Amino acid sequence: MCGIVGYVGEKQAQDFCISGLKRLEYRGYDSAGVVTLDEKGKATLLRAKGKIANLEEKLAANKREDKIGIGHTRWATHGEPSEANAHPHQAGPIYLVHNGIIENYKELKEHLKEHKFKSETDTEVLAALVNSFYKDGKYPLMNAVVQALKLVKGTYGIAAVSTKSPDEIVVARSGSPLVIGVGHDETMLASDASALVGHTKRAIYLNDGEVARLTKNSIEIKTLNAEPVSAKVEEIETNLAAIQKGGYDHFLLKEIMEQPESLKETLRGRVNVKEGIVHLGGPGLSETELRKIKHLVIVGCGTAYHAGLLAGYYIEQFTPEITVETVIASEYRYRNAYIPKDSVALIVSQSGETADTLACLREIKKQGVKTIGIVNAIGSTIAREVDGGTYVHVGPEISVASTKAFTSQVIAMVMFGLTIAQAKGVRPGTLKPYVEEIDKLPEAIRTTLESVRKEVESVAKKYAKYEHAVYLGRDTAYPTAMEGALKLKEISYVDANAYAFGELKHGPLALIDDRFFEFALVPEGELYDKAVSNVQEVLARGGHMIVITNTSKFDLPVEKVIKISSDCKLFAPILMNLVAQLFAYYMTLAKGNNVDQPRNLAKSVTVE
Ligand code: F6R
Repeated sequence: MCGIVGYVGEKQAQDFCISGLKRLEYRGYDSAGVVTLDEKGKATLLRAKGKIANLEEKLAANKREDKIGIGHTRWATHGEPSEANAHPHQAGPIYLVHNGIIENYKELKEHLKEHKFKSETDTEVLAALVNSFYKDGKYPLMNAVVQALKLVKGTYGIAAVSTKSPDEIVVARSGSPLVIGVGHDETMLASDASALVGHTKRAIYLNDGEVARLTKNSIEIKTLNAEPVSAKVEEIETNLAAIQKGGYDHFLLKEIMEQPESLKETLRGRVNVKEGIVHLGGPGLSETELRKIKHLVIVGCGTAYHAGLLAGYYIEQFTPEITVETVIASEYRYRNAYIPKDSVALIVSQSGETADTLACLREIKKQGVKTIGIVNAIGSTIAREVDGGTYVHVGPEISVASTKAFTSQVIAMVMFGLTIAQAKGVRPGTLKPYVEEIDKLPEAIRTTLESVRKEVESVAKKYAKYEHAVYLGRDTAYPTAMEGALKLKEISYVDANAYAFGELKHGPLALIDDRFFEFALVPEGELYDKAVSNVQEVLARGGHMIVITNTSKFDLPVEKVIKISSDCKLFAPILMNLVAQLFAYYMTLAKGNNVDQPRNLAKSVTVE
């Protein structure tokens, strides 16, 4: 969602802010703005609706050498996308950018009668509130920010500057990430470390309830209660190549194609094929604790939720006497669900910042249940708040649609399930096939991607005329179908929904007509014959079917069969999902939509 950047140092702040905001473009936004201050405190505020390119046009005519500035990409919550609503917002000498939501902004506004509001945003209320405590520079900026934040209810990551003190930036966070980049004679900030890559490798991740005053060569951090905080400087692991397209037209295609490598990173040092075991250090549970687990609750949103559903099917296959419930975070946080004490909760999130998932994590912790993160973004809020965790290590995922994270989330959770099964004494013979296939999976992914890419491209072009799609599967292929349908709808805007094959007769069969095509996953296995019968049911009603299968046995006269590698049987759905990912990508290209930044969506959903 919204992005924040800021710079104070010896270089041009405008340049830093614009290039930083471009790095954060992937998060989704509808307007952007930058303010810089010269040595005397003269402010240059530039804002534009739409893409950063619009802001750059304004900048070209207003180039400044200013060495301090803050910038923002806004994803509208309060008030339409417009220049007036774009950040930074001004109140007297204060300029402020903000991610998150100020829930009590109406109430606060009532007490700020002196300020003439120019926007509909909650952020301008916060700027005016800070200004009301700042008293035109009578009090230090940091104190004014602290006083204001003490009255705020909601979530925020903020950065503020003042024309009265053009050598400092004050930042604070509660529920919305902020990273400080430590440089030589320069200090930077961003809501996401990717904006700092290439400028510094040293970062301080601010915690909730902390506020910091940044100058070019000092960083002072304290809590809202004025307790000093000694900062921990961490290394930014991401490199520039990881956040560039690397020769691909779109991040989405790059991320789909890099899955053999990204999965290898997930597996590194964790799989022992010889002994048929996996080893995960991160969860930090002893053998006794693992043995005691009776229930797994898996929490996530969107793709992370689907990954949890799929992993749950696998974990049930090989772990005895355990129940697995996968839940949608936005629902679960408001359910009055009782979680037995012998449970462990897996908190699944690529970004590690999803508001609903984070809320569930906090709720579950309150119940005294152990939480384990399945997270990608290192240092993210969820990663820091869980009791233990397994990073999936897929590197930055820039395209809004999640692809490589899904594959690694599923496998990381399956490995956690295997760890429990090992501790519970499940026969190694039962677990070995899973371990062997996990080890082979990166290579199977590589061959599948190579062999189907061209074919999927031409099939997708043919089906781009459709506006409706039904995705179908049974057992492990069912959550995979759900994920395939989500991918198609979010980037191609085709109305795609997934059903369990067995549910067809209970309603969805009525949909089958010439407006729809069907995308069916039919892996070899125990339920193969049943899935084939379901395909027949659809065919008999004039369906327009594409079948993805891993067996040459399949011989029904559907419109198109895409045959994938049969190397990994247990994890065939993961390979089938690659076809669904490529299909969504090429369908979107054919429809001419924005592949990496689909309309109305944001990469990291930090508000409820
Ligand atoms: C779909 C997609 C979203 C995310 C969801 C959770 O392609 O990207 O559905 O999976 O918003 O995000 P994280 O994993 O960051 O918690």
